[in-house]
Amino acid sequence: MNIEDVKKICVIGAGNMGHQIALCAALAGYQVRCTDISQEMLNKAEGFAKTYLPERVAKGKLSQEQADQALRNISFIQNLEEAAADVDFVIEAAVEKIDIKRKLFAELDRITPPHAILATNSSFIVSSKIADATNRPDKVCNMHFFNPALVMKLVEVVQGPHTSTETAQITMDLSKKMGKNGAWLKKEIYGFLVNRILAALHNEALFLVDMGIASPEEIDMAVTNALGHPMGPFRLMDFTGIDLSYYIGMERYQETRDQKDKPSPLIIEKFVKGEWGKKTKKGFYSYD
Ligand code: 3HC
Repeated sequence: MNIEDVKKICVIGAGNMGHQIALCAALAGYQVRCTDISQEMLNKAEGFAKTYLPERVAKGKLSQEQADQALRNISFIQNLEEAAADVDFVIEAAVEKIDIKRKLFAELDRITPPHAILATNSSFIVSSKIADATNRPDKVCNMHFFNPALVMKLVEVVQGPHTSTETAQITMDLSKKMGKNGAWLKKEIYGFLVNRILAALHNEALFLVDMGIASPEEIDMAVTNALGHPMGPFRLMDFTGIDLSYYIGMERYQETRDQKDKPSPLIIEKFVKGEWGKKTKKGFYSYD
């Protein structure tokens, strides 16, 4: 199999990441089925596509024809069997829970044609924790996009010990077709490249707040003004989801049992209160 054999893509999960990954693939000319267990999420994703595309046309970033074609390329289907039955490539962007992902990949192994590649967008669950739920571990890898997926240019392609080089190569090629720059990680490592670097920054920022040195607002202002980052660490955690920061920290802590890997008290407090950032309209900042 090579990249030219990839024509139909199924994106699983219409949340924060999935709805934009699906649209990226549709804009790149692929036949895309976006699926989610929640019809409400699918309606939201479809609504987003129907407002985003005309806005791009109005901004002069897309032609009317490209926008119309992208809309024709994408469908929103709740039923997994129907959405994944005849696809060549799956990008799973469902909830970051390992048991759910293992169950999903076992089902995908049953539903999809034997040649289909099954990639997970997970940012911290390496595919070797999922691949053995399928009978095609050589066709399983991580394909990690960044938020917002329509804008951010990087995709991390992580080749596990079970992943064939052909699978990793096709995933790199697909990233390129979707207008992204792929970074090929030849070995699995926790946090991949970017989240390892980001975690160092975020942990330090959280430590400074926990110590009462400065407020989230001041730290965000300092980082955007001094380092030129488009968002400071607290604004970014609100954007990507404080629940995700919590799950990432807990997963890491369970693996290492090192206290320094435990989510910071501030993250635990926000997680327990349900203040998960933009998606719950409150995190470190309020969003009305
Ligand atoms: N969805 C789609 N497109 C969006 C968008 C969104 N939510 N927000 C902004 N955009 C687009 C706009 O349409 C505009 O496109 P154009 O230049 O082609 O017209 C462009 O982005 C710039 O938008 P704005 O001028 O309105 O706003 P900003 O200049 O403030 O940019 C931002 C918004 C792109 C989100 C910018 O603040 C940014 O880059 N923030 C940092 C994001 C980041 O670090 N992401 C990585 C997070 S880590 C991660 O994802 C890992 C995961 O595992 C958690």
